[in-house]
Amino acid sequence: MSDPVNVLVAVAWPYASGSRHIGHLAGAYLPADIFARQQRLAGNRVLMVSGSDVHGTPIAVRAEAEGVTPQEIVDRYHGEIVDQWDQLGISWDLYTTTGTDNHARITQAMFLAQLANGHIDKRTTEQYFDPEAERFLADRYIEGECPHCGYADARGDQCDNCGRTLDPIDLINPRSKLSGATPVKRSTDHFFYRYSDFTDALRHYLNDKTDWRPHVVNFAKGWLEDEGLLDRAITRDIDWGIDVPVDDLGPGKKIYVWYDAVIGYLSASQEWAASDANLSGEPDAWKDWWENDASRHVYFIGKDNIPFHALFWPAQLMGAGNLHLPDSIPANQYVTFKGGKASASRGVGLTIADALDLFEPDALRFAMAAALPEQADTEISEEEIARRINEELVATWGNLVNRVLSMVHKNCDGEVPDTPGREPDDTQLLDSVDAAFDDAAGQFEQVELKAALRSAMKAAQAANGYLNATEPWKLQKTDPRRASEVLHTALSAINGVRVLFAPFLPFSTSTISAVLGEPTGWHRDPLIPGTPIPKPTPLFAKVELNL
Ligand code: MF3
Ligand code: ZN
Repeated sequence: MSDPVNVLVAVAWPYASGSRHIGHLAGAYLPADIFARQQRLAGNRVLMVSGSDVHGTPIAVRAEAEGVTPQEIVDRYHGEIVDQWDQLGISWDLYTTTGTDNHARITQAMFLAQLANGHIDKRTTEQYFDPEAERFLADRYIEGECPHCGYADARGDQCDNCGRTLDPIDLINPRSKLSGATPVKRSTDHFFYRYSDFTDALRHYLNDKTDWRPHVVNFAKGWLEDEGLLDRAITRDIDWGIDVPVDDLGPGKKIYVWYDAVIGYLSASQEWAASDANLSGEPDAWKDWWENDASRHVYFIGKDNIPFHALFWPAQLMGAGNLHLPDSIPANQYVTFKGGKASASRGVGLTIADALDLFEPDALRFAMAAALPEQADTEISEEEIARRINEELVATWGNLVNRVLSMVHKNCDGEVPDTPGREPDDTQLLDSVDAAFDDAAGQFEQVELKAALRSAMKAAQAANGYLNATEPWKLQKTDPRRASEVLHTALSAINGVRVLFAPFLPFSTSTISAVLGEPTGWHRDPLIPGTPIPKPTPLFAKVELNL
């Protein structure tokens, strides 16, 4: 086996501004978890971090609308989100928030380092101001027509229709979300990050990303082609966020949420290293990922986050010193419901809570994994989730495990027999299971998780085909010795296939592991004769939707 690699699994930080939906799950969290679990099985040192994004106008606007403090919004939704990660079995090494002192300190230190390196400067800018509310209108406090696609309800920072990143000053016919008033322009001072200093370095950086998903690398390169990177303000006229670490802007200014949130990957790694979760007890352990050329950083995000991760974050890292850049950004496209993009704020599609009410966690994970929007927007419905659970997960995998464990329990004295099969059928089945590990390893390497799931399914189908061809339930009467060989072979196959499924199905995997033992790596372990095989209970229930 090759030497272990330090793999950072960096997962987009969800805003703690509302309930998250299954589009978020399929976009970033589930693929990250599947990938992280496989990498751990493959022997790599995985650090998987994220947290709730608690700053910025998404939180502040929501708090204002409800008449509560931003912190109340954050506490409510961070709690809900954490609870759902638990129910879904998302295996974080650390899930924190951008509201920690640690994060503020590291964000400010990075700001100061970039300032000292000449990549931050102060400028006077024109911003929209609400003459009635007498406040500046940052980002989502303002809406108007998108200058790119004409969509009427674009938000100051982003157009939900064309997906472009916006500057509020470019909106057409802007209106204040606070009062509905027509905003006026006023000048105000802000710090700018000189992203343009890095246009050439980023072209270089993106040039050797030949193995990235085409939609990701083309988007990032296209952005650089048009205009190169423009300098952007990294402070805002707002009172919710991280303090600017130099005080010459005066009061009422905070660091811009997107400048701070991406720093979470680094600050969370440091928080993890300083915590009890880091079993080495070495507070500098984060450097094994961040100050190590041989480490591998993989970012799991939805496609609306591509500019921030493929352009702005690398530029921020380059300006701060010698920290590891993203190695790959397998951004997913959107999940759609009845043709529309899933959206928490617009109430389109199932929330994670809705989905967990309808489906068992492993079954939901399976159906979502089979439909990950890796290359194109992908339609998902409750009916389709149910169909995949019943026709694929239960029919192909659940029934196989149940059938074989039941027969071994009944016909082999309730334990693993010592009767390895040596017929060509037997060898062929086990060879095909073993080959699936190589296929899937390559697919995981490329973060083609849907394909890796198909490899596991194919191996399960091979085992079903083997049973149908050998019919051990008939052999039981005619040739019990051969029946026992067949069952040994089928159980050996299951012992491998359950490892292929392990990244996808953590809960049912541990049920199987309680019987067959923990997997020791990304391979099929030999069966241990004499291991007790109790009467099994089905791994998954068939679902019936009452819609
Ligand atoms: N909160 C952002 C969103 O939901 C994602 C932030 S990713 C981060 O779109 F890395 F910047 F935190
Ligand atoms: Zn638009």
